[in-house]
Amino acid sequence: MLTGLGSCLPLGVVSNAELALTVDTSDEWVRTRTGISARRHVSESVDVMDLATAAGRNALIAAELASVDALVLATSTPRRPCPAGAPEIASRLGLGPIPAFDVMAMCSGFLYALSTAAGLISAGVAQSVLVVAAETYSRILNPDDRATAVIFGDGAGAAVLRRGEPDEPGALLAMDLGSDGSRSDLIHVPGSGGEGPYLVMEGRKVYRQAIEKISASSMRVIKDCGWATEDVDLLVPHQANARIVQAVAQRLGIAEERTVCAIAEVGNTAAASIPLALSTAMGSGALAPGHRTVLTAFGGGLTWGSAALIWPRVRSVHSEL
Ligand code: COA
Repeated sequence: MLTGLGSCLPLGVVSNAELALTVDTSDEWVRTRTGISARRHVSESVDVMDLATAAGRNALIAAELASVDALVLATSTPRRPCPAGAPEIASRLGLGPIPAFDVMAMCSGFLYALSTAAGLISAGVAQSVLVVAAETYSRILNPDDRATAVIFGDGAGAAVLRRGEPDEPGALLAMDLGSDGSRSDLIHVPGSGGEGPYLVMEGRKVYRQAIEKISASSMRVIKDCGWATEDVDLLVPHQANARIVQAVAQRLGIAEERTVCAIAEVGNTAAASIPLALSTAMGSGALAPGHRTVLTAFGGGLTWGSAALIWPRVRSVHSEL
């Protein structure tokens, strides 16, 4: 069951107006087409491991735990291709020689890592797992590509899962994961050659796929729980584009007031998007203990995933770097 949330954002705020000084775009276009007003970018001295470690530490503080039995890091923007970042985060947090590894599912990474953590607990490998999702897309954005430069931002979120009773609030009641590798070129970073390597995205096609896959995956977990869409108190979708969030809510028949849209100040933070949206929703009071909650994400791969739970009485701790 979920027992604590943490998050960390870089201090550097980049507004649409600032981006428009170097990219061929406008504040009006970005706000109306994506719902984004600003995003955070790391400074030169901060990297994805710093954000990940801070978010992980915050989640441990929130869960009032000094140690866990395993750590899973979700990132698609690692500091280096190998080794995995998770062992270094475990070491920086003083967690000892615990199992620690990365999963890479782009924007669906948090849900993939969460279900991996739940699997470690069910298999008896761990009693508690720290799940961290951290991204620094600013490091792989082509500054001349206006379609991606305006959307993505940096950030990290984390959650602690621990063994609990299946009927306790915070237990993962249903999970759904999927992929379609035949469309892997829709969002990818070319292997080599040219400048960068930078992220490349076919925005229109991704947009359509995201709505379709997120809606279908959400429906599967809602049905698996024996709920109807009217029973969902809060839908927390991956924050890719405010229009995608609205379209998914409309397709599922879930009112906008019961759907989290927290993209305006941070943009699309990929794997970190759901834990960051959860922290924002807790802060505003939109997410409260007892809420029947559905988390759902879509990302490159293509990958998608959803989870349903009754929101537990948990704390969320945030910091900036
Ligand atoms: N500023 C100004 N104009 C822009 C622009 C920008 N930042 N980005 C694209 N445009 C222009 C295009 O060049 C195009 O111009 P044209 O008609 O003269 O050719 C026009 O706007 C429409 O482009 P299109 O790509 O069809 O826009 P769109 O409404 O689909 O919005 C995205 C583009 C990228 C915002 C949108 O497709 C999107 O959000 N896709 C999903 C992205 C996503 O979620 N990615 C992560 C998935 S996890």
